Amino acid sequence: MKKILIVGPASQMLGIKIAKELDINYYNTETKTFPDGENYLRINIDNDSLIEGTEVIIVQSTGPSSSENQNGRLFELLMMIEAVTRMGATKIVVVIPYLAYARQDSVFRPGECKFAQLILRIIDSMRIDELYVVDIHSQKILEEIQCKCVNIDSMKLLADYIKSLDVKDIVVVAPDKGAVERSKAFAKHFGENVPVDYFEKVRDVKTGEITMSGKLSLKNKDVVVSDDIIATGGTMANAIRLSKESGANKVFAVATHALLLQNAKFRIIKAGADEIIGTDSIDNEASKVSLAKAIVDYLK
Ligand code: R5P
Repeated sequence: MKKILIVGPASQMLGIKIAKELDINYYNTETKTFPDGENYLRINIDNDSLIEGTEVIIVQSTGPSSSENQNGRLFELLMMIEAVTRMGATKIVVVIPYLAYARQDSVFRPGECKFAQLILRIIDSMRIDELYVVDIHSQKILEEIQCKCVNIDSMKLLADYIKSLDVKDIVVVAPDKGAVERSKAFAKHFGENVPVDYFEKVRDVKTGEITMSGKLSLKNKDVVVSDDIIATGGTMANAIRLSKESGANKVFAVATHALLLQNAKFRIIKAGADEIIGTDSIDNEASKVSLAKAIVDYLK
């Protein structure tokens, strides 16, 4: 079956890289916001028949940026899925490198909504065939949907980038206990006996404020602080500061999804980080590691 790729407006560089690796034709979209705030999207093709009978791969991350927020990105995604369905795509494969709202997967206070699950259910209800996400905050929410669904692991790619830098005596540090399992898996890419440690983080469920504490044995070590998401940078900055206070030599702030909101970059570098490293799930200055090859391995 002929395959084509739709490069979503939020994943322009990554979408093109994936299409080139797959050696298939790709099309972008035209988007605007109407005066009343509603989103508009059309796939940039001259004729609907181009889609009929093809396998369509849609690549659209859903992180916020200066040009669109995550709600708009989600609506654009739904519009692309609806359009290719209407035009008669035979198979629809959706790649969402960063899934917005993934952290809202549990009820922390009475009255809350498990919005992450709802978003997945909406996408699933559009009868797509396959869904690919990358390092989703909690993999268990993928079990609740019907379509084939894969959580792609970016850790080897991130580790390869760090190994290409001038680093020695690495310790991987998780910013909280919940991130330890992920950090252990990450550490294996640096060698069998690379240590993993963590700080104690407590988040106030009402205000969102975090406090972090702990002292680790990091004297003269190069430290990789790894997390799935950097949003405001509060978590990462605290972990970097405590790593430095624990004697760390170089410190790298690493996250699959480096959203870098507000003054996150300033906070993280001021706390003592040598570099902020993310993937192109979010297209910004921290996107030093491309997910294209890892995604293509699944799509081939
Ligand atoms: C939380 O569980 C996540 O894994 C990240 O640690 C968190 O989202 C980072 O947020 P921020 O950068 O705002 O501290």
